[in-house]
This record gives sequence, C-alpha cells and structure tokens, in this order.
Amino acid sequence: MESSKIVRALANVQDPNTGQDLITANMVLDLKVEGPNVSFILQLPKLDAGYKQQLNFACQEAILAVYPEASVHVHMQNPGATPQAKAGGGGPQKGNPLPHVKNIIAVASGKGGVGKSTVAVNLALALQELGGVVGLLDADVYGPSIPTMLGLQGQKPTIEKIYGKPKIKPLFAYGIPVMSTGFVVEPEQAVVLRGPRLSGIIKQFLEECIWPPLDYLIIDLPPGTGDVQLSLVQTVSVTGAVMVTTPQQVALADAIKAMNMFFLPDVQVPVLGVVENMSWFTPKELPDHKYYLFGKDGGKTLARKSNSMLLGQVPLVQGIREGGDDGKPSFLNKDDEITREAWLNVAKNVARQTALRNEMMAATPVVEVKS
Ligand SMILES: Nc1ncnc2c1ncn2[C@@H]1O[C@H](COP(=O)(O)OP(=O)(O)OP(=O)(O)O)[C@@H](O)[C@H]1O
Ligand SMILES: [Mg+2]
Repeated sequence: MESSKIVRALANVQDPNTGQDLITANMVLDLKVEGPNVSFILQLPKLDAGYKQQLNFACQEAILAVYPEASVHVHMQNPGATPQAKAGGGGPQKGNPLPHVKNIIAVASGKGGVGKSTVAVNLALALQELGGVVGLLDADVYGPSIPTMLGLQGQKPTIEKIYGKPKIKPLFAYGIPVMSTGFVVEPEQAVVLRGPRLSGIIKQFLEECIWPPLDYLIIDLPPGTGDVQLSLVQTVSVTGAVMVTTPQQVALADAIKAMNMFFLPDVQVPVLGVVENMSWFTPKELPDHKYYLFGKDGGKTLARKSNSMLLGQVPLVQGIREGGDDGKPSFLNKDDEITREAWLNVAKNVARQTALRNEMMAATPVVEVKS
C-alpha cells in the first residue's frame, strides 16, 4: 500500500465543521503503513461522540475504497489549543459549535444608529489587513445592514450537504466570509417573524454554517439587549464585547444599559473596550479641522465605567457614510489616510485587548438555557 494514495483518499474526507478536507486542515498526523495496517492520528478540535464517529467512519470508507484489504486504525486526539476550543458549552455532551474559531467578538451598543455595523465591517477588514483571518456575522435580525455595506445585497448563500446534513455556505466579500439574515429573510418578513423565531436564526448561523477556521468572528448585534444577545451567549463562548457609543450623554446612558447585559450574573462576557464613533466632524475640504458636534469624552467615560479602555475614536466624515451606502467600506479607501488610520488603530487595540484577555481569563462560559 502506498501512503501517498492514502493521503489522497483522506484529502477527500471533509471536516463537517469547517468544510475543509482533513489534509488541507492539517488534521492527519503520524501516518503509518505496515503490512495491511494503516494507522494515523486525527487531530480534532472537539471530541464529541457523534463527530468522532462520523469522521472515523468517513476515514475508514475513504481508505477502504482504495485498499479494500486494509485494516484502518484512527486515533482521535484533541490538542485543545485555544480557550475558545476548550469552551465546552456546558460539558462534553453539548459541544462547542465553533471550536475552530479562536475569538468571537460581539459589537454592541445601547442605542441604534451609533455606528455598530460600520464599526463591525471596518474592524473586520482592518483586522484582516493586520494578518488575521476574519469572518463577519450580521446578527441584526431586525435591520440587517451588512449586505448593503459590503455590496452583497440580493445574493443568496448556497446549501451544501456534508454527511447528509445541510450546511449553509457563507458569502464572501473582500476575502471575508459573511452571513446575514438579510441573505435569507426579506425585510417585510423580518417584521412578522420578530422575537424568538428570529433569534433562532442566529443559533442556526452559528451551528449550521460552514465557517472556515478563523482568528476572529465579528458579530454585529442589534441595539440594546434582547433575544438575539441572549441567544448568542447561550450558543457560543463569546470572547469579548466591543461597545460602540457616540460622545453624547444620551447615547452613553443607553450604552451603559447594554453593557449591563454583559455584566448580568450568569453572562460573563468581558468588555474588551469602547469605540467612540462620530467623535468629531471633519469636512472633506478642511481635513485638519475638528468640530465636536456631539460633545466630548463619551467614549472615555464609558471605558472607565466598564473598567476597559478606549479602543479608538472615529471621526464623522462623509466618506464613511458613502462607503457604507456604496458597498465599499471606508477602510478600503486608500485616499483617505486619516480614516484608515482610525480603523487600523481600533483594530490594533481590539487585537491587543483580545490577546490580553485570553492570557488572563478562561474562556467565557456559555450561558445555560433555563427552561
Ligand atoms: N463615523 C461616521 N461618519 C459618517 N457616517 C457614519 C459614521 N458612522 C456611521 N455612519 C453612518 O451612520 C448610519 C448609521 O450607522 P450604522 O448603520 O453603522 O449604525 P448602527 O449602530 O449599526 O445602526 P442600527 O442600530 O440601525 O443597526 C449609516 O448611514 C452609516 O453610514
Ligand atoms: Mg447596525
């Protein structure tokens, strides 16, 4: 038996979590062929029984198809590398739907219209430029705006069957896998579906999508606290929250309310920091002028109240609004260095605070569903 043929056979076996084949994903180690015996180690991000069994069976089948006489031994191993991967979601029987996603970062605010979606999109792109592998989930089921912001409106994700189970394939924009209710629900329908039905969609997007292995999954939340936020913390281990606020006192009061959701006794999602958006207005023709239309210091105050840091200040500029409307986020506009710098600064701070958080704290426990 030739080991190269066995490798090729295993390259046809897909990890149902990521859609990647076992060889590309570097999951096969220590392959040995001795007489009729084929053995190898299969490195798995989680060890739940159904998943193990499925992969064991698929490996056996693939190898027996080329060498019917082979006797195949698969040793399953879980290196448990990242805190996210270890987050069991309440024990081994429940499993973690996204063990191959290192960090899940929620972008939240108390009030609508402060720029969460704008921050989520540009943060994702800036983290990617810093070398991260990033995905984006638009969890704003009531008013999904990510499809427009990324020029994906009207497109539909496809469904792929892996081991008989239908899985949703995210769409891609600028190299980033993206999922949004906007892809599957018409705006009129969203109003009718409201509440628990809609938040169920978020669970489905986390559990039944083929997310590739990611350093960061950025989640754009609807404003305030509600079913979607709850459904999120009950489904996955959220690494941390990025709070978005404007410098105004009113927006600030609401932001504190939203933050409290993350401080509820059984919700232990740490706040990574605060992005102050629309910090000052800079007209196109006067790029070095700053007009403080909405006051000052809102971001700083919120950071202090949440024991976190100010991740950055983003100016109110026409290009950011236009970029959102045109499906070409402002971070990608190389002509506007000031705005790009602002986003890069936010992304660097998010990356740093995430790394620090992972050094200092265990994975966020998944909130148990109380029935
Ligand atoms: N810094 C900025 N400069 C100019 N326009 C901005 C800025 N940030 C956001 N906007 C614009 O403000 C509007 C609201 O922003 P966005 O949709 O990101 O807010 P949101 O908090 O996600 O809103 P919602 O609560 O409705 O989800 C959009 O038209 C966006 O393009
Ligand atoms: Mg939004």
